[in-house]
Amino acid sequence: MQLQNKTAIITGGAGGIGQGIVRRFLAEGAKVAVVDIDQAQGDKLLAELDGQGDVIFIAKDISKEESTKEIVAETVERFGGLDVLVNNAHASKQAPIMETTQEMWDLSFNTGTMATFHLMRAAYPELKKTRGSIINFASGAGMKGLPNQVTYAAAKEAIRAISRTAANEWAKDGIRVNVVSPIALTPGIAQWSQAFPEAFQEVVDGIPLGRLGDPETDIAPIVVFLASEQSQYMTGQTLMADGGSIKIY
Ligand SMILES: NC(=O)c1ccc[n+]([C@@H]2O[C@H](COP(=O)([O-])OP(=O)(O)OC[C@H]3O[C@@H](n4cnc5c(N)ncnc54)[C@H](O)[C@@H]3O)[C@@H](O)[C@H]2O)c1
Repeated sequence: MQLQNKTAIITGGAGGIGQGIVRRFLAEGAKVAVVDIDQAQGDKLLAELDGQGDVIFIAKDISKEESTKEIVAETVERFGGLDVLVNNAHASKQAPIMETTQEMWDLSFNTGTMATFHLMRAAYPELKKTRGSIINFASGAGMKGLPNQVTYAAAKEAIRAISRTAANEWAKDGIRVNVVSPIALTPGIAQWSQAFPEAFQEVVDGIPLGRLGDPETDIAPIVVFLASEQSQYMTGQTLMADGGSIKIY
């Protein structure tokens, strides 16, 4: 087991990719604090995970800075420390640039960029003690500049910039900071694929490996790798878990 005796916070842990990461982390021996704003989904997940490991659910809105401090405090109180922070949650709305509103900027930056930043800062003193690992989430939408996704694309690229800066600043503390950029078939995307089968096929056609990833078996193992000592000589990197869609040189 690669994460035995490690404690992790996983934001958006009740969502599509988040659930895959939570299940995989538990299978690898980690103690997990699942953080999500969706109380009903969190309760359902915890009921499903009953007896499958040491896991708690923290229902909080990570866009509020105060909540990020409470999340770290609650996790440390329950498990005695913190080794891994996975900033996976992000909410946003799509619109063409000319129809983009301030509310859309606030939603994407507060739940994505600022929540990631505040959680990293709240977790820093604990991660310094354990020489821990932070895994943040990016998107091909940011790297490609996909149309109608300006607030999401900008928020995701800002997360990559924060990650590189923190990787440089916190290397001396033994804290590694890396990024995963996934493509995964979540329940949300499965629903969308049924409503728009042609658009979905176009997405699949753009993936060299010919399919969307599975949250638990394709995306989560990359997060486990970045959380474990197996990646101890990597920091500041973006790993593409996207079936070969984007190549970084
Ligand atoms: N699914 C993909 O193909 C894909 C592609 C590129 C990037 N990503 C990124 O991967 C990550 C996970 O994506 P997903 O598809 O599983 O998303 P999802 O929408 O299925 O899950 C996101 C979870 O975050 C939670 N959340 C939203 N706002 C919150 C808040 N303010 N406080 C606490 N929790 C909040 C939601 O309740 C939800 O459970 C995101 O960062 C996303 O941008 C996903």
